[in-house]
Amino acid sequence: MAIQLGDIAPDFTADTTEGTVDFYDWLGDGWGVLFSHPADFTPVCTTELGMVAKLKDEFAKRNAKVIAVSVDPLESHQAWIGDINDTQHTNVNFPLIADPDRKVADLYGMIHPNASDTTTVRSVFLIGPDKKVKLMITYPAATGRNFNEILRVLDSLQLTANYSVATPVNWNQGDDVIIVPAVSDEAAKAKFPKGWKAERPYLRVTPQPNL
Ligand code: BEZ
Repeated sequence: MAIQLGDIAPDFTADTTEGTVDFYDWLGDGWGVLFSHPADFTPVCTTELGMVAKLKDEFAKRNAKVIAVSVDPLESHQAWIGDINDTQHTNVNFPLIADPDRKVADLYGMIHPNASDTTTVRSVFLIGPDKKVKLMITYPAATGRNFNEILRVLDSLQLTANYSVATPVNWNQGDDVIIVPAVSDEAAKAKFPKGWKAERPYLRVTPQPNL
């Protein structure tokens, strides 16, 4: 059955460009970003993996590790990394899973036969410290992802996991947030000492509580 939000992320062992990875051990107690790309030596994927390398510190600040996967073999990944580094002016600093037998791709439902029988789509899974799937997004092969959006979602997930808030449209770190409807006005007085503006009884806007 397809993975859904809140499911436990499947564990696996795989060969990667940084050695054998036991996924759960590799994740440790932090957050994980597992993302697939269609194929090595393709232009959009080259730009995506270069950008992820450049953003590694931003993921680390959020206690998140990134790992890529495609159905290409290890030797192909290793050769392609040289091109990514040269053309994107970076150093790939995270593991690429070699998945020629599609073990990981099938576990995570990354091959969508009506898009391609043979390659993974552009999937992203954000996995929490509890090993549960917190976000899934899927892009087609011809559309590169915006990894700043993945960082933005990580910020939202980490904030909303710790406070009784939700983040509104186009929210970014530092913007006002919304008090979740399950919190009564009475309870909100204690939880949100900075106060809030009620546009409607269900739409209460408050400054980000952890700043
Ligand atoms: C790319 O990464 O550029 C790409 C891969 C598969 C199909 C189309 C584009």
